[in-house]
Amino acid sequence: MDKIVALCKRRGFIYPGSEIYGGLGGTWDYGPLGVELKNNIKKIWWHDVVQVREDMVGIDSAIMMNPKVWEASGHLESFVDPLVECKECHERFRADKEAEIKEHEETHQGVRGVQGKVEWTEAQKFNLLVKAYLGVIEGKQTEIYLRGEITQGVHVNFKNVLDSTRIKIPFGIAQIGKAFRNEITPGNFIFRSREFEQMEVQYFVKPNEKEGKRWYEYWKNFWMDWYAKLGIRKENLHFKDHEEGERAHYARMATDIEYKGPWGWAEFMGIHHRGDWDLSHHQKFSGQNLQYGDQESGKEYLPWDIESSAGVDRSALFFLLDSYREDGKRVFLSLDPRLAPLKVAVFPLLANKPDLVNLARKIYLDLRENFMVVWDERGNIGGRYASADEIGTPFCVTVDFDSLKDQTVTIRDRDSTKQKRVKINQLLEVLNNKING
Ligand code: GAP
Repeated sequence: MDKIVALCKRRGFIYPGSEIYGGLGGTWDYGPLGVELKNNIKKIWWHDVVQVREDMVGIDSAIMMNPKVWEASGHLESFVDPLVECKECHERFRADKEAEIKEHEETHQGVRGVQGKVEWTEAQKFNLLVKAYLGVIEGKQTEIYLRGEITQGVHVNFKNVLDSTRIKIPFGIAQIGKAFRNEITPGNFIFRSREFEQMEVQYFVKPNEKEGKRWYEYWKNFWMDWYAKLGIRKENLHFKDHEEGERAHYARMATDIEYKGPWGWAEFMGIHHRGDWDLSHHQKFSGQNLQYGDQESGKEYLPWDIESSAGVDRSALFFLLDSYREDGKRVFLSLDPRLAPLKVAVFPLLANKPDLVNLARKIYLDLRENFMVVWDERGNIGGRYASADEIGTPFCVTVDFDSLKDQTVTIRDRDSTKQKRVKINQLLEVLNNKING
C-alpha cells in the first residue's frame, strides 16, 4: 500500500486534497493519470451496463436534492444514533448496544488474532449526511444535504423515466456520480473518503420472491465476472453476505464483493435487494403514484429493486493494488490495456537524430487522435521503458534506424517485454486490436 500511495503521488495519479493548505481529511484529488484511470473505469462500466444492454438506461441526477428525499429514504432517521467505531475494521455499533460491542471485541481478538485491546472511537451522535446551506439571504438559508448515496436520484425519477422511455420490467436505471458522507474515520488512502464516486444499477423486477432472488443472483455473478474479466485475480475476490442485523435499513438481502487488500478483506461493492423500500417511501412522502403499469398483466404495482453499488475510487485503488508487480528491479502495473491511463508511449531511438525524431513525432501525433499517447525522448531507452512500465502503459513504440529504411517500428509489450516489428501503415490497426480487443 505504501508503494502504491507513493507511486500515485509521484507519477500523478492521486494527490491529497487541498494539499498546499495542509489538506482536508478524507478528500483526494486525481492527477493527470488518475483522471484517465477513473474515466476508463467509468467508460467500461457504462459500456457494459448501459450501451450494450436493451434493458438499461442511464441518468445523471442532481447532487443537491429536496431534503424530504432523505426523510423518505430513511437516511435522516437511520444515522442519528450515538455510534462508536472500531478503529481497526471501521465497523460501527450503537454505543448503547453493549452486548454487540462485547461480541465484536471477542471475535476480533479470537478470530482475527488481534493482539491487545480493540480500540473504539468516542461515542458520537451524528448523521452521515453532509449538510449544506442554500439561499441568497444570510440567515434565511435552507438546510439541505449533499447526497449520501446516488441511489435516491434514480428513485425520485422513476416515474419520469417510465413516462419518457419504452423500457419494460425487468429493466435497470444506471447512474455514476459523486456521493458525500461524514465518515468518522476516513482512511486506507482513497478506500474510505468523505467525497467519493459511485456507479450504481437499480434493477427493477416483478415484486415476488422468485424474481427477486433470481436477479439478485444474476447481478452477484455479473459483477464477480466483471472484475475478474478486467484483471483482478480471482483469489483476491469473494462474496460476504450480510446477516440479519448487519444490513442497511433498506435491504432485505445484501452481499458485498470483497477484495483481499493489504489490510485484509475489504468491501469493493454491494449488491442489495432493496425490495420496494425506496419507491414505497417516496410514494408515501410525495403523495405521487409511483406504480408501474404492467401491460402484460394489466396490473399496477411497485417493482422490487435489486441494486448494484460500486465505488469508482475503490475500484481504482483495487485495480492499482492488484496490478502492481515487481520483477527483479522492474516495477510495472499489469493493468488491462482498456484501464491503462496511457495506452502507448512513442520514442525516437535517439533524441539527437532529426530523421528519427521527425518520423516518431508524426507517428505520435497520428496516434494521439485515437488513444492517450505519450511522447518521451529523455535519457536512454531502458529508462523510458521503466517509466512507462511503472504507470502501466501497455505498449511502447520505438522509431529506430531500420524504420527509416523499411517503414517499420517496434512495439514492445509491457508484461512480456517482448518486441515485434510492425509496418507503420498497420500500426494503428495492430494497436487498436491489442488495446480494445
Ligand atoms: N446505494 C447503496 C450504497 O450506497 P454502500 O454499501 O453504503 O451502499 C456502496 O456503498 C459502495 O460505495 C461501497 O461498496 C463502496 O465501494 C463505495 N463507498 C461507500 N462509502 C465510501 C467511502 N466513504 N469512500 C469511498 N467509497 C465508498
